[in-house]
Order: sequence, then C-alpha cells, then structure tokens
Amino acid sequence: MASVPSLAATVHQRLADALSAALPEAGASADPLLRRSDRADFQANGILALAKKLKGNPRELATRVTEALPGTGSGSVIKEIEVSGPGFLNITVSDEAILETLAARTADERLGVPLADEPGTTVIDYAQPNVAKEMHVGHLRSAVIGDAVFRILEFTGENVVRRHHIGDWGTQFGMLIQYLIEHPHELDHKEDVTGEEAMSNLNRLYKAARTLFDSDEEFKERSRRRVVDLQAGEPQTLAMWQKFVDESKIYFYSVFEKLDMEIQDADVVGESGYNDMLDETCRLLEESGVAVRSNGALCVFFDDVKGPDGNPVPLIVKKSDGGYGYAATDLSAIRDRVFGLKATTLLYVVDARQALHFKMVFETARRAGWLNEEVDAVHLAFGTVLGKDGKPFKTREGETVRLVDLLDEAIARATDVVREKAEKVGLTEQEITENGAHVGIGAVKYADLSTSASRDYKFDLDQMVSLNGDTSVYLQYAYARIRSIIRKAGEVGPVPHTGLELAPAERALGLHLDQFGETLSEVAGAYEPHKLTSYLYQLASLFTTFYDQCPVVKAEGGREQVENRLFLCDLTARTLHTGMGLLGIRTPERL
Ligand code: ARG
Repeated sequence: MASVPSLAATVHQRLADALSAALPEAGASADPLLRRSDRADFQANGILALAKKLKGNPRELATRVTEALPGTGSGSVIKEIEVSGPGFLNITVSDEAILETLAARTADERLGVPLADEPGTTVIDYAQPNVAKEMHVGHLRSAVIGDAVFRILEFTGENVVRRHHIGDWGTQFGMLIQYLIEHPHELDHKEDVTGEEAMSNLNRLYKAARTLFDSDEEFKERSRRRVVDLQAGEPQTLAMWQKFVDESKIYFYSVFEKLDMEIQDADVVGESGYNDMLDETCRLLEESGVAVRSNGALCVFFDDVKGPDGNPVPLIVKKSDGGYGYAATDLSAIRDRVFGLKATTLLYVVDARQALHFKMVFETARRAGWLNEEVDAVHLAFGTVLGKDGKPFKTREGETVRLVDLLDEAIARATDVVREKAEKVGLTEQEITENGAHVGIGAVKYADLSTSASRDYKFDLDQMVSLNGDTSVYLQYAYARIRSIIRKAGEVGPVPHTGLELAPAERALGLHLDQFGETLSEVAGAYEPHKLTSYLYQLASLFTTFYDQCPVVKAEGGREQVENRLFLCDLTARTLHTGMGLLGIRTPERL
C-alpha cells in the first residue's frame, strides 16, 4: 500500500527515502545520489562512487538496490527502474505519485513549502540611499535584491530585521546646515510636498550652498565650524540637520512607493544612529589590541591588504583629527546588530565596489570577537548597472540617470504594452494604469533579479518589457492566462484525480511544480533570487507547452480529466503568484 504523502513531501524526497531504505550503506541520506535527468525522471548516479568506496561492482550494487526497492506496481512511487551504463539507475516515477504528492499540498497556503527547523535572526542591510542626494541605479539594485531576499528569508521562517543604513552623517552637512541657518526659509513649504518636489528643494539648496562654499572663503570657514557643532550635538545645528533628513525621507519614501516596496521608519537607522557607540567601539578595539595608533590615527592592519606601493593599507577607525568615518559606523552597527538585535547572520546588500571595505570591517569584527562561529557576516555584492552600450549607465550628457525618470519610463513603456491588448481583455482605463505600473516595475525588478547579483547587467527597457523570453511580463501573462482559463471553466473547478494517466507535458509540469519547495530552500540558503526567476520562467514555459498539447476545458477524457487539468492550472498559477510575490512582483488577474 502506498503511504499518503505528507504535506512537505516531494516526489523527489519520497524517491530519495525509498532509495535510502534500499541502500543502507549510503548512510542517512541517499539524496545526493539523485538528479533530474533527460533520460528518465530521475537518475541515481551516486552508485558508482559508493561502489568504489565499498570496493564492490557498481552494476551489481545497482541491481541489488533495484531488487531491494519496493515494487513498481500500483501505489508505488516508482513506475520503472533500469540499470544503465556502468551503474546508473534510471528511474521513472508513477503518475499517481506525482498527482498524489501535488494534491497533498493544494489545501496549504504555503504550497507545502516547509518552515526552517531552526530559524535564526538575519539583519539585512539594504536600500541605503544618502540624505540630500538623488537616488541612482546602484540604490535601485540594493533595494530590489534586498527586498526579494527579505521576502524569501521571511517565507522560510527566518526572523528577519531590516536596516536601511542611509548616509545621513558626515562633514558635507556642515556646508548645507550653515547655508540653511543663513537662509532659514529655504526648506519651508506646505505640508504635503511630493517626493519630487522635496528632492528638487534639496537639489536647489545643495547647488546654492556649493556655489557659496566655492566662492566665499568666510562661508567656507563658517561651514567648517558648523561641522564641529554638528558633531558636538549643538541643538540648533541638529535641528537643521534633522530638516535635511526629513526632507530626504519624503523623497526616499516616494521612490520606494513607486517601487511598490514597504519601508518603515523604525527600520531606517542611518549612520547617525550609531553616534553614541563610536567612542566605545574605538576604545574596545584599541584596548584589545585589534586597532593600533599609526600617525595619529587609529588603524587596523591586514597582511593581505596592500596599496600599489606595497605598503599596507589600514582600515582607519578614527582619523588623526579625531573624526570618525564609514568604518567606525559599520563596526558599531555590527555590535548593535549582534548584541542588541541578537542577529545570527548579518547580510549586506551593497555594491561590489565596496568589497574591500566589508572584508576589512568583517575581519576586524572577527578579531574583536563580535563575529564568530555563531554569527556570520555576508556581503551580498552586486555588480554595476550598464547602459545598452555596455558602459556604466549614464544619460547622453554623461550624467547619472535619475532613478525616478527610469522608473517612469519603464511604467510608460509597460502601459503601452498593456494597452495594446486591453481591448481584447476588456480592461478599464483604471486597470490599464494599474497594470502598467505593475508590469513596468515588475519588469525592472525581474531584469535585475534574473541575473546573478554579482554580475553587471544591462539596463535595456526594450528587452525588459518584451512579451517573449525571460521577462516578468511573460510570467505575468502566463499567470493571467491561467486565471482566465479557470474563470472560463465556470462551475467546473480544479480537483485532482490521482488515478488518471498523465500526458508527457502534464508529467513535466507536475514534476517541475514538485520542485518549488526545494528550489526555494536553495535560493534562500545561498541568497540567489536568480534561481527563483529561472525556476518560474521554466514553470511558465512548461505550462505553455502543456496548454498547447493538452486541451483543458475541452479535455477528451471527460469531466475528471478537465478537473484534473484545471488542478494543474490552478497549482501552476498559485506557484507563479507566490514565487513572483517573493520577488516583489505583482501578478494582475487580468492582463
Ligand atoms: N549609503 C551607502 C551608499 O550609498 C551604502 C551603505 C551600505 N551599508 C553599509 N552598512 N555600509 O553607497
């Protein structure tokens, strides 16, 4: 008798269990022995290595395993098994096993994806723009990748804390604050200013302050003194500084809203948030000997970090003038995250060009004992966004591209695409606008997420909103098509019938659906959202083949087959919806 599969079981897992039982020599898990294969559903090719270890004949061992496996009759996971080549096992699973396993998880909102056994606490540092500065494509990548990784980790049951380490501190504020003190009404405005207006206020102020700073020696001097006041926490100076932070937040939040991303005040803990810890961080490092004085500065040295002249390049924790920089803040943030937030993993979604900084900061924290076997730090480094020409993304005039302009253009292009089909689908003007935003933002996110983060990628809007190929639009259309099939089926609903025989395209789709949970745990384990996009793209492609070859509503096998195919449709749609949701991408019902 076949046992009823548990919710979290996959065909793959059931097969691996059966193999383990038949092959006790392999130890606790025979899982690594099993691969998806083109020749059969699965291939167990670990027998070779195992035979070598046991000093036996691989073909004999394979045959012995075959005999020890439960039969291939009705109710069995295995339909066919053959020994091939020097000792591979080619295994075809039964249609019943596929359907049973998928049916077991339909009632579950999580689609059978198990929660982590021992969840930890991950602090994820992402979406960290700088105060009084325009956001650019680099900030886009951090936000998009970070948001997806946040959602994926949270879905696996991890406790995840967000930290937006915004650049809100430093000597550059002396000039801005001084200017605002001398021109006190420059940031006064009505309450409900838009993000764009806020940014243009900041830009205007920045330009004016800069001009004065470059032309007026006395203003320059007053600005320098203002930095000292800021560091000393002088109230009027701090109040002015706060105005810049608040104005910038209006702008940041408007961009995040456009990106369809949630951001909460409590999670915005910028560089300034660690001011109170800087002294102590330095003291701890100096007392423990991790940092040493060198030319008046407090430094940490590394054997393998040297400049072009061969001299060591230290991490400067405190400058010789007593000022603190980026490193002191990051080291303090580590202490806060480890001892305050009780993190077990620190994740930094930051440009690859900051790799050396993080290498030195992490190594320093390890020497200080703040990072250790229990707490790990990972720099999830991403590459540069390139223009169509393969060079770093710039406007024709050679300026950095404003993120907002880019997003607006993506939305405009996507809206055109949506509009073309809108009449056929019967979309209202409001739906066209809404879908245009979801398709446009989805396109930008998907393009970013579908290349492995560490690689540079080309920002090419034409390709991003293309209906064919590996794009979010393609996936969104696949989803909407399935939803429309289900709507058209009317009162006939999705019901699995585990006794039915499956067509090849149904089996292929079913076996791919089976892999969702395992794909997700791999994606979460290595922080690799691009493996989720490729899983989903394959899913949509397999669905397209299925739909070409297997009529759903007009299935030739009668009502049961219609219901069973609707069941495959429904599970595909839900998997697409969940998967896209984890990437931060919406799936409109009608498109
Ligand atoms: N604000 C920085 C930038 O725009 C990124 C901050 C990254 N996070 C960190 N903990 N250093 O480049």
